[in-house]
Amino acid sequence: MVLCQFPLHSNLLHTLFDCLIDSYIKNKVGLAENFLSEPLAAHLKENLIALYSGRHLLPAGIGNDALLVHDNLIRSDKIFWLDPKHNDPHENAFFDLMDHFIRYLNSTCYTGITGYEFHYTLYEKGAFYKKHFDQFRSNKSRAFSMIMYLNTGWQEADGGELCIYHSDHSQMIAPRNGKCVFFKSSELEHEVLQTHQPRLSITGWLKSG
Ligand code: OGA
Ligand code: MN
Repeated sequence: MVLCQFPLHSNLLHTLFDCLIDSYIKNKVGLAENFLSEPLAAHLKENLIALYSGRHLLPAGIGNDALLVHDNLIRSDKIFWLDPKHNDPHENAFFDLMDHFIRYLNSTCYTGITGYEFHYTLYEKGAFYKKHFDQFRSNKSRAFSMIMYLNTGWQEADGGELCIYHSDHSQMIAPRNGKCVFFKSSELEHEVLQTHQPRLSITGWLKSG
């Protein structure tokens, strides 16, 4: 498995992107440690905690638009969408990073990504998300899934692993701070195992078409 550990520094950005893309090509799951710099991860985590304290997080749904349903037997995480309209400096720094990544991905892999959407995610103690695909049957615009974790000091006993189902094995990924996971939304079924500590992340999709 390819695991990369580069600090986020402008002249190392492409090395970091290469790490994520190369491991994706090799293993169907891209992994990059420290994809979010420590300061950016810390600021986004502060935002998420403030949103949670202010009761702005909403139960995540299943499906999209008119078909959206809430079923906490399937998933029990809470979310809040990032938006440039918030004029939050840390959200904007995050969007900047994504803009750079998408430009790089499109120019090196001809992926044709034209947009993205990201939300803050919080799994309270005991929360989970059962086995699923990220692409909707009715709307295939989600091309790639990207998850970035905001959990410092995560221990094995804390649970909350992302379990990805490959055809011949499953892969467990601990939600450790700064790590980014990247995979094709239509391709891999996955689940979030029950967490024993609050589990924080930024989750989103790169869109095409
Ligand atoms: C999702 C999801 C994985 C994770 O939100 O669709 O699968 O590790 N998240 O949080
Ligand atoms: Mn998912």
